[in-house]
Amino acid sequence: MKIKFFAIVLLGGCLLLAGAFAVSSGMKSSRQAKASSNLWHDNKAEMEAFISDLMSRMTLEEKIGQLNLLSSGWDVTGPRLQDNSKALIKEGKVGAIFNAYTAEYTHELQKMAVEKTRLGIPLLFGYDVIHGFRTIFPISLGEAASWDLAAIEKSARISAIEATAEGLHWTFAPMVDITRDPRWGRISEGAGEDVYLGMKIATARVRGYQGNDLSRVDTMLATAKHFAAYGQSQAGRDYHSTDMSERELWGTYLPPFKAALDAGVASVMTAFNDLNGIPATGNALLLNDILKGQWDFQGLVVTDYTSINEMVPHGFARDEKHAGELAINAGVDMDMQGSVFVSHLKGLVDEGKVSVVKIDRAVRRILEMKYRLGLFEDPYRYSNEARQQAAKKKPAFLEAARDVARKSMVLLKNEGQILPLKKQGISIAVIGPLGDSKQDMIGSWSAAGDRMDEPVSLLEGIRAKVGGDVVVHYAKGASYAFNDHDQSGFAEAMAIAEKSDVIIMAMGEKWDMTGEAASRTSLDMPGSQQALMEALHKIGKPMVLVLMNGRPLALNWADDNVNAILETWYAGTMGGHAIADILFGDYNPAGKLPVTFPRHVGQVPLYYNMKNTGRPYASDGAEQKYRSRYLNTLNDPLYPFGYGLSYTQFSYSEVILDRPSLGPKDVLTATINVANSGGYDGEEVVQLYIQDVTGSVTRPVKELKGFQKIHLAVGEHKNVSFKISAKDLSFYRQDMSYGVEAGDFKLYIGTNSMDVKEARFTLTNSGT
Ligand code: BGC
Repeated sequence: MKIKFFAIVLLGGCLLLAGAFAVSSGMKSSRQAKASSNLWHDNKAEMEAFISDLMSRMTLEEKIGQLNLLSSGWDVTGPRLQDNSKALIKEGKVGAIFNAYTAEYTHELQKMAVEKTRLGIPLLFGYDVIHGFRTIFPISLGEAASWDLAAIEKSARISAIEATAEGLHWTFAPMVDITRDPRWGRISEGAGEDVYLGMKIATARVRGYQGNDLSRVDTMLATAKHFAAYGQSQAGRDYHSTDMSERELWGTYLPPFKAALDAGVASVMTAFNDLNGIPATGNALLLNDILKGQWDFQGLVVTDYTSINEMVPHGFARDEKHAGELAINAGVDMDMQGSVFVSHLKGLVDEGKVSVVKIDRAVRRILEMKYRLGLFEDPYRYSNEARQQAAKKKPAFLEAARDVARKSMVLLKNEGQILPLKKQGISIAVIGPLGDSKQDMIGSWSAAGDRMDEPVSLLEGIRAKVGGDVVVHYAKGASYAFNDHDQSGFAEAMAIAEKSDVIIMAMGEKWDMTGEAASRTSLDMPGSQQALMEALHKIGKPMVLVLMNGRPLALNWADDNVNAILETWYAGTMGGHAIADILFGDYNPAGKLPVTFPRHVGQVPLYYNMKNTGRPYASDGAEQKYRSRYLNTLNDPLYPFGYGLSYTQFSYSEVILDRPSLGPKDVLTATINVANSGGYDGEEVVQLYIQDVTGSVTRPVKELKGFQKIHLAVGEHKNVSFKISAKDLSFYRQDMSYGVEAGDFKLYIGTNSMDVKEARFTLTNSGT
């Protein structure tokens, strides 16, 4: 289908250069690093000429229509506003649609835009393809626990292949917010608490969705969200305010966004929160200055769902019209679901409050993305029935989902090597509300994934694994609903436990207790699950706790009383098979926590790279009254960042440094020998941490600076080396310049953030 204006007109010197307009904020030059510019393989001159020609023929209303992103209503991801999107498409008042998919439906909507509007500009189709589209992978926090960047990239790649076949061009992922508060339900959507790991995973996900060529029909625009600092919502309550120092913002919350930009991310979504008093969606410092200015971001800035409108209740805008003015002037390009731009921008232009230049810049960014995707050549190229059929439930995709799921699981306890279980000659009681649940298995934000039939429940996975060789009983036993203390199922659960050799308790949270609008003040197991565990414990049989949850839980009782604990997050479509692979030893777990598990919600926020304080508390049992501590709980977490066991044991040698000091241009190599001294082949994530002992500002007790996932056969050992150069030691110094400071450093290598071997070195000269 040819569209009406498909003719490239070269406009010679009249090219309107799309691009950044930097507003100086007085930031130090060291933060001016630009994102690499041509990751999208643009033929810039041709693209700009085409778009300039198109824009020269657009009315102001048509331009404003391009800035409007509406939900189709197929999926509800926020408050419902208007249901007349089809009529608006035909009126040319919509530039993009989200929550619509299938080749057929996207084709139908696209046809309206192409055939019914004056210029026939194609729509963009967006969707939250977060951890799978049809084939669902583990929730994002779970995937992060794999520390396996290739696996994470593959998961995003497969998601993009499936989604693009159904007409989608654009995913609202990855969520790259650093998250340190398990009360916040959205902790499940990110990569956890650490900046370094977060940056690596952001890069892997962007690459997975976008591939290395946006014009390919199986790649889609990725979105780094939510810009910025949303992960620090006060008290873990969703949509709440954030207030943080410039140093914390630059040092912790912004780097994963910058990493996504460097990987070529095509869009950035603003956040719901206000940051230091200014809502992110009207925040010119964040959008105009940092993102589009200092970082030279050339992609498109979309708001979060009605976040322009929300600047009114925030108390930042007088009314929606004012909110629209603030948003476009701050650097927003596209209005998600709020209809503020489409309702008010024309009036704001007439009143001289918004310039046409500003609108043109936003329109251009959107049209450029459509151009890059090849939509002006063929608006229907993504809505392909044949490809859709071919992509659906591909065995290879399901196998990949099973593999990523296994890689994501974290063995938290395995007393007496109770796991793996024997595949014959035993009887098992599977107990708990999550034991035979399909709907929970795929977690929240599970896109077009089937929740009712396709996911493999734990019970199904176990039965498929052991066939008739193991007797498997099942009882739901308890409720996982908040405030439901129902114990009517306990007797049945106790009865099957009595007649079994092992009790497998499948417990945790219902799938929608995490994700958006799912904050909790408690990290305990909801409902009557804890009471059932305690009742079952009295029977005295070996107990294995299989956890399904989207946030760290406070597991003190379980840690003290059950024999084994396996964190499986929400493992996705193939979850039951993947868990069974681990329980019965077909896969040796290697996942490591990407987030700290506290002992108590009162310790929150608790993360490994905290500061030391002036009165650090040493956990050596000595009476230390005036120290930074709690009277009733240890400072330490229950399970630290980076923690996770294996069925085998890994022994670490001492660290060897090839030099005692390094200068600005040197490279230091730290080597450790890791041996598999246990009885199973297995994988280990070897982690490198560094502490800058003294700085012009206080520094974290340690920071992750590298990791390697290695495979060791039984009895095998390997030297693992990390190279460190001065730039790896950079931070935001007292004057907010980014660089290093000469001095002493501690270097740690180990199996998690607390269990490490130490070495020391000196940085002789800062070089800057
Ligand atoms: C969420 C975003 C999401 C959007 C569209 C919002 O409520 O905060 O993360 O991309 O809805 O569904």
